[in-house]
Amino acid sequence: MITFEVELGERSYPIYIGAGLLAQSRCLEDHLHGSSVFILSNDKVAPLYLDAVKQHLGAYRCKHLVLPDGESCKSLETMHRVYSALLENRCDRDTTLLALGGGVIGDITGFAAATYMRGVPFIQVPTTLLAQVDSSVGGKTGVNHPLGKNMIGAFYQPQCVIADLDTLNTLDDRELSAGIAEIIKYGLIRDAGFFDWLEQNIDRLLSRDPQALGQAVHRSCKNKAVVVAEDELEKSGTRALLNYGHTFGHAIETCTGYADWLHGEAVACGMLMAARLSVRLGWLDEADRLRIERLLGKARLPARAPEGMRPEQFLERMAVDKKTRAGRLHLVLLRGIGQAVLTADFPASKLKDVLQEFCGA
Ligand code: NAD
Ligand code: GLY
Repeated sequence: MITFEVELGERSYPIYIGAGLLAQSRCLEDHLHGSSVFILSNDKVAPLYLDAVKQHLGAYRCKHLVLPDGESCKSLETMHRVYSALLENRCDRDTTLLALGGGVIGDITGFAAATYMRGVPFIQVPTTLLAQVDSSVGGKTGVNHPLGKNMIGAFYQPQCVIADLDTLNTLDDRELSAGIAEIIKYGLIRDAGFFDWLEQNIDRLLSRDPQALGQAVHRSCKNKAVVVAEDELEKSGTRALLNYGHTFGHAIETCTGYADWLHGEAVACGMLMAARLSVRLGWLDEADRLRIERLLGKARLPARAPEGMRPEQFLERMAVDKKTRAGRLHLVLLRGIGQAVLTADFPASKLKDVLQEFCGA
């Protein structure tokens, strides 16, 4: 098992990464506060792993809520249901919430923990690759609004993150690729050496080589932990770099009703769009853009905007991005592989050209 800390002063917490962690009780027990645990999961993950988690909780009053699967469940309506379940089960500040699932469950549970009774502790047990390398780390919690992705939420850090690599064995191939998209993101924004490693090891990741997956999860979490420690609340601009590809990607997710495209797929397409814009600005070499396109292609990630989506729809959705300042759209772009920048310094015409290219207009 690998353990390291997200360094945030009194809010610091460990990330545990390894195989078979759900079969061990120690990681969990060390971070449970109070006498009761409330587990949130969904109807796909609970049948696979709820019993494994519950078996360590015999000494606690333990309740759970199983939500429907899917991104469309990440809504205020679901939050209402979660608060009702917590109240009906007499959960109080002596309760630790536990997120058992992918990023959707993690974001919902974190937001419930941040807001229920003005804050109760929570633990992240991420079961998708995407959640293990990204969403479970760093304390961004929240839900979607029909008009915008992740628009309602809070920064709220977990007590710990327990990433059991064995849970990745039940993930389907499309979900695995979606997680690889966020892994590639770290190489692109700040770790060129990792990007090289990914080019050499992409086949091992796709075939779920446990050692390669462990290395990729570890290096991704390390990258994320450093960024979060530097800019926990996304104030200096450093953390915003983690949103590389996301402004385009969120537009895709919102426009497709949070239904057809996986988050990682939308981000992958968005990363290609941002790379294309970076080339048009003369910041990124075409040869490097081709490397990015090749790696994402090998990872079976999409390279075109959704069928029928128009450039104006992108612009409309991108305008409500959280990085917008005084009405001015900011994007994360590349000055090279491993060198991301947050900028508003691009002509609107070049952005429109890229949108047209990806929409086939
Ligand atoms: P998800 O939670 O919907 O999980 C993907 C699918 O895999 C679901 O069908 C889920 O039920 C299933 N699943 C989960 N674990 C499984 C397992 N072990 N075996 C089989 N199936 C399993 O999606 P995701 O890709 O994990 O996360 C995407 C969400 O995370 C988005 O809402 C995104 O906005 C959010 N996100 C948040 C942050 C953050 O910093 N908070 C960062 C990135 C993404
Ligand atoms: N996934 C972006 C962030 O955590 O800041």
